[in-house]
Amino acid sequence: MITKEQIEESLKEVIYPGFTKSIVDFGFVKAIESNDDGVYVEIDISSSAPEVEQELKEDITKRVQLLGASRIDVVVTKPKMPKQSSSQGKNIAPHVKNFVMVSSGKGGVGKSTTTVNLAIALAMQGKKVGLLDADIYGPNIPRMMGVDGEQPEIIGNKVKPLLSHGVEVMSMGSLMEEGQSLIWRGAMIMKAIQQLLQDILWSELDVLVIDMPPGTGDAQLSLAQSVPVTAGICVTTPQKVALDDTERSLDMFKKLNIPIAGVVENMSGFICPETGKEYDIFGKGTTAPLAEKFESIVMGEIPIEPAVREGGDSGKPVVFHDPSSETAKRYQEAAEKLWNTIEQINEEGGVDNEAIQPTTPPGVSACSTGAGEAPEGNSNNNSGGGCGCN
Ligand SMILES: Nc1ncnc2c1ncn2[C@@H]1O[C@H](COP(=O)(O)OP(=O)(O)OP(=O)(O)O)[C@@H](O)[C@H]1O
Ligand SMILES: [Mg+2]
Repeated sequence: MITKEQIEESLKEVIYPGFTKSIVDFGFVKAIESNDDGVYVEIDISSSAPEVEQELKEDITKRVQLLGASRIDVVVTKPKMPKQSSSQGKNIAPHVKNFVMVSSGKGGVGKSTTTVNLAIALAMQGKKVGLLDADIYGPNIPRMMGVDGEQPEIIGNKVKPLLSHGVEVMSMGSLMEEGQSLIWRGAMIMKAIQQLLQDILWSELDVLVIDMPPGTGDAQLSLAQSVPVTAGICVTTPQKVALDDTERSLDMFKKLNIPIAGVVENMSGFICPETGKEYDIFGKGTTAPLAEKFESIVMGEIPIEPAVREGGDSGKPVVFHDPSSETAKRYQEAAEKLWNTIEQINEEGGVDNEAIQPTTPPGVSACSTGAGEAPEGNSNNNSGGGCGCN
């Protein structure tokens, strides 16, 4: 009789479609049984795409047949198909069904890390995902996704996103020379955000997750005016001083009519790699009252874990490269919560950004500074035609 161990070993050859890892490495194999009647394999792939199920069934059957099994039953558990967005208003990237804005009041709290891991977690859950680095001031996503230095392909006057960890990726960092910096003014910010949405050849995405610069400025406003943002996520650390800024960020979502999917409490406790014991560093659990104030939830408490930082520095995100770690599990749970919220928002009629459109005529800057497009030092026009929404 074929042993469970032999079967598990052969399933390590079954690569999850679109990724470089096996269904065993991803922890998708839920049950293996083997007796005189045959072999039973159960997997929970959390992908809704029928072609993924079909491909995996065929591959598993083929592998187990090689061990000499006569009868093989493969059961695949998967979630329901993603629903279409029902959002309305201005949308300059209409082939993207849902947009998620990841913001924070403060810099350095782990926005980009959260964005990267949530985007990959959603892709691992079978969604078609894009990741837009809208942090034009400090684009870190290429390094975190392991695509720094990679040149995107240009097709006509459009740019193909890079592909990494099952996610389409684009960043100002991939379009500029390494180490180069620009000084951004109001109208330039609007234009950059629009180009990143419009001139990038995004596929028909279920969701585009967008990493924002810290704070509540022109980039956030430009994004919300260009596409109907389905949901906002706020990343914070647990200290009181961080929470004050987080409140401003949540208030911005409210002002922009963006439903709040939740708050991610990052650097929430520390897990010692040697002992696995958890310690409080910045505190823990302080975010819940603030989330409640905005009738929202804490989507996840992500501990400080050296593997998270190492994964960011080396372009090997923890959710993908260490899927069984506590942190990866919490990102996966947060991604599930995010998706449930998106579906609920769409069932209830979606979002509409009509009310926050600029009131200035076409061609006039709608941004809060209203400055011209010339770089700093080259412009004496600071009066602008701002829409007054700041
Ligand atoms: N949970 C965590 N455990 C360990 N290190 C973390 C964790 N979260 C983030 N980091 C590390 O902290 C640093 C800052 O994180 P990140 O760049 O994601 O923050 P950010 O909010 O996007 O910053 P910025 O405002 O500059 O864009 C990074 O080096 C990252 O790897
Ligand atoms: Mg960042």
